[in-house]
Amino acid sequence: MNERELFRQVADYAGDFVETLETRPIRAEADVSALTTALGGPLPEDPVDPQAVLAALAEAVEPGLVAMPSGRYFGFVIGGGVPAAVAADMLTSVWDQNAGLYAGGPAASVVEEVCRGWLADLLGLPFDVSVAFVTGAQMAHVTALAAARHHVLAQAGWDIPENGLAGAPPIRVVVGEKRHVTVDRALRLLGIGASALEIVPADDQGRMLVGELPDLGGGPTIVCGQSGEVNTGACDDLEAIADAAAEAGAWFHVDGAFGLWAAASPALRHLVRGAERADSWTTDAHKWLNVPYDSGFAFCAHPDAHRAAIGVTASYLIHADDKRERDQMDWTPEFSRRARGFAVYAALRSLGRRGIADLVERSCAHARRFAELLDAAGASILNEVVLNQVLVRFGDGEHTRDVIRRVQEDGTCWLSGTDWHGEHAMRISVSNWRTTEDDVERSAAAILAAAGLHSRV
Ligand SMILES: Cc1ncc(COP(=O)(O)O)c(C=O)c1O
Repeated sequence: MNERELFRQVADYAGDFVETLETRPIRAEADVSALTTALGGPLPEDPVDPQAVLAALAEAVEPGLVAMPSGRYFGFVIGGGVPAAVAADMLTSVWDQNAGLYAGGPAASVVEEVCRGWLADLLGLPFDVSVAFVTGAQMAHVTALAAARHHVLAQAGWDIPENGLAGAPPIRVVVGEKRHVTVDRALRLLGIGASALEIVPADDQGRMLVGELPDLGGGPTIVCGQSGEVNTGACDDLEAIADAAAEAGAWFHVDGAFGLWAAASPALRHLVRGAERADSWTTDAHKWLNVPYDSGFAFCAHPDAHRAAIGVTASYLIHADDKRERDQMDWTPEFSRRARGFAVYAALRSLGRRGIADLVERSCAHARRFAELLDAAGASILNEVVLNQVLVRFGDGEHTRDVIRRVQEDGTCWLSGTDWHGEHAMRISVSNWRTTEDDVERSAAAILAAAGLHSRV
């Protein structure tokens, strides 16, 4: 077997796939039975030639792939992969560094440290924040909230690494009504259940009603704000939450899975004003930075608490003596891990500061154009389109559900729904560098056709 030949063959499959994005339906075409038949069967007894395995795999999965990297995929909040990041990710597999310790791969470690500084600068965070490169916002919440838990309990005289949670002073966690569900799951994994949450109501866009924040003083307290509500893109008044947290000495955590990237745009930065005053932040690389899955970050303004909550040692490990040499397992709740920094580095470097601002602003302009086209044809736009999210209803919720189903079947674009104020609504999320004005117009036309409406623009 010739490895170079194999990699060339795979590069061709990659090129073939990318070239189909313009013409293929966005939805998958094969169902579970067809895919199980194509991929299943007994485990081979004997080795199979790798080129034959890859050829068969590429053929079998083809109809089961969703064209997620297409510029006409508007479901959930899904970025594409900018070419440099995708290519760097391919090399990451080939280099196959175990990025747990500096000793396991100095380049993988240094690239994270370089990205840490670039990201802090881009996102307007304190220059000396610590970072964990994790799988996504979910694990970023776990990491950041573990640091928060450590810090607020240490302030109350409780050593959580030593004593655990049993018998600890209770932690108050104050969250907005429209927080993302991953905040709850992170807290659950950290031993803080639903009944411990103090929930602040939200306005009609999903922003926390900061006037209804409880007093955050009187014991270990964490308050979670949000930049970018998953349906509307609305951002909490982070300045007001920062004021309340600072006054009470509470820990302020920001979920900025996609919305924090507004900070990278001079035109949109005002939406996340106050974010820079938080104690910890969550954001994703695989959403708006357009790094391939899976990739996100936890940042922390208290590196000591971060490291104390997450770090690990063992006699057989080789920890760096030089402070500049980053041992990733001290920051990331994983031991052995993929060298995620390379793809992030490639995305940041290939886009540059201007390219990232442009990507964010372009996505928002596309979202506004969607809203304009659909509104003009008679759809109801339910949100203020401040960022990259559009919430749409066609008549009532049930009709909207039907329209979504027809759009998905048609295959020109892909999007899905949500319940908003008790009724179903269509969600459109624009987060992909590939999306063009033409993609938006073609997709809006397909949506209107599915709704039996005609463009009036
Ligand atoms: C506001 C917000 N927080 C957290 C998440 C979870 O992100 P991930 O899927 O990267 O864990 C999302 C996902 O859309 C989100 O929109």
